[in-house]
Amino acid sequence: MQETLFHLRPAQAADLPAILAVQRQCYLPSMNEDGATWAGRLAAAADFVWVGEVAGKVGAYLATYPSHLGKVTPLGGAFALAADADCLYLHDLAVAPAAAGRGLGARLVAGALAAARQHGWRHAALVCVQDAYAFWQGQGFSAPATLAPAAQAALASYPGPARYMTRQLD
Ligand SMILES: CC(C)(COP(=O)(O)OP(=O)(O)OC[C@H]1O[C@@H](n2cnc3c(N)ncnc32)[C@H](O)[C@@H]1OP(=O)(O)O)[C@@H](O)C(=O)NCCC(=O)NCCS
Repeated sequence: MQETLFHLRPAQAADLPAILAVQRQCYLPSMNEDGATWAGRLAAAADFVWVGEVAGKVGAYLATYPSHLGKVTPLGGAFALAADADCLYLHDLAVAPAAAGRGLGARLVAGALAAARQHGWRHAALVCVQDAYAFWQGQGFSAPATLAPAAQAALASYPGPARYMTRQLD
């Protein structure tokens, strides 16, 4: 099988329409976060949002930011970057159906975790929605047995089942 060539790079403000298009293809309308929220994230966390291009076209994104282990970002929440972070929070990974199943999601995650290690953060965390649980298990994440009440309240902002998952970074 011919290997797919991806180009992974930091996201820019100009990527916003492409990011929103990927989001629309990957999530139910009730899960879509609006353009203003996304623009704020791109401005606040420019070093922590990446896109994946296939044949020169954005087909995937991964939006993350420095946070604290145990803190859950609600749906539509702004990225409040922690100055004393111990954890990279992966808020949203989406690969458009046309680009899915070729390793792009795993490549984006590996790049983000490498960046987190370079910062010296010991953990990564996320909220798993839709049917991605086994994907995240494959990336080394698992669901902790207990959650603080504030984290449980943030999880409840997601329509449908949502699970907090974490992993250690060696
Ligand atoms: C989940 C998603 C990000 C996976 O991206 P992808 O680029 O298709 O995944 P990859 O090709 O990198 O797959 C990596 C591995 O995970 C597996 N995998 C991918 N999606 C999976 C899923 N939904 N369930 C179980 N395993 C999955 C692949 O088979 C592959 O396994 P392998 O390493 O043994 O070959 C993508 O399907 C997506 O964007 N879904 C819609 C949005 C979404 O639900 N995002 C996650 C929110 S928490």
